[in-house]
Amino acid sequence: MSLEDKNILITGATSGIGKHSAFFLAEKKANIILIGRNIKKLKQITDRINSLNPNNKGKFFYADLSLQSDIAKVFNDINSNYKTIDILINNAGAIFSKRQMTSEGIEKTFALNHMGYFSLTKLILGIIDKNKDSRIINVASAAHKSGKIDFNDLFIKKKYGVGWRSYAQSKLCNVLFTYQLSRLLSSTKVTVNCLHPGLVNTNFGNNNSFLFSSSFKLVKFLYGINEKKGSETINYLASDNQKVFQTGGYFVKNKKTISSKISQSIDFQQKLWDISEEIFYKLCKP
Ligand SMILES: NC(=O)c1ccc[n+]([C@@H]2O[C@H](COP(=O)([O-])OP(=O)(O)OC[C@H]3O[C@@H](n4cnc5c(N)ncnc54)[C@H](OP(=O)(O)O)[C@@H]3O)[C@@H](O)[C@H]2O)c1
Repeated sequence: MSLEDKNILITGATSGIGKHSAFFLAEKKANIILIGRNIKKLKQITDRINSLNPNNKGKFFYADLSLQSDIAKVFNDINSNYKTIDILINNAGAIFSKRQMTSEGIEKTFALNHMGYFSLTKLILGIIDKNKDSRIINVASAAHKSGKIDFNDLFIKKKYGVGWRSYAQSKLCNVLFTYQLSRLLSSTKVTVNCLHPGLVNTNFGNNNSFLFSSSFKLVKFLYGINEKKGSETINYLASDNQKVFQTGGYFVKNKKTISSKISQSIDFQQKLWDISEEIFYKLCKP
């Protein structure tokens, strides 16, 4: 679709693949609205976006997306600045090699990588035009394939290890959430898809201990694709005309692909939805 003057809200665009998608979409003359937690970086990225699209009506907004209270606040800000959002790209994510709880009592990987997507989407859906080609794009990962989900231990109290279990679970949540939401919106024109960007040489993993981030850096350096290439499937899902009526897909290298068996469980999709809604109604009150 033509992206000219579309309002595109993207999270995690101060670095990595999100940043390159923001630049690509700005070049297509979209208004790029950013949510981030680092004002200095947000300013720098917005300057670059404005140079790529001098008519950009996008702004940046502060939120720590691991906090439900911040998501509620940032939604209020966005709601008072924009009538509608045409495309929402949920991308901000991280791995935590040491188990941490947020001040709201949620394990941080689940809080950021899953609840960050879930609650922001729930709120933004209120200002998405459901009769028009609108899109929700969730950046998941092939890591979801090694993900399991134990509804009695979603915050991974047992066997946290170096964080991979929690990360893989959160990326499985991205796929389960995408499928459930696409079903719920099937009578509308809103499409919901998720993707794996590939192994990409970004800052991903660098927020951890020296040993952990050094080994991650080596793997990304040796086997990773560059950030621009890593942003291609997001860009494809945001701009491609054929995707208008395609919803509920998991995409890799611009192609719809089969996700893990667990991710296709309607029972798990529903359970995750119910638990996430409970957290949302308890902690995310705009
Ligand atoms: N890199 C890969 O190989 C790979 C593979 C599969 C999937 N992915 C997924 O791709 C997505 C983007 O990751 P990336 O590789 O581009 O990593 P990245 O370079 O580390 O970028 C992550 C982005 O998320 C933001 N972020 C982190 N914590 C946040 C918080 N609490 N609140 C708000 N924003 C926060 C970061 O902000 P700051 O700039 O402030 O840190 C940054 O903009 C993630 O969902 C990741 O799971 C990556």
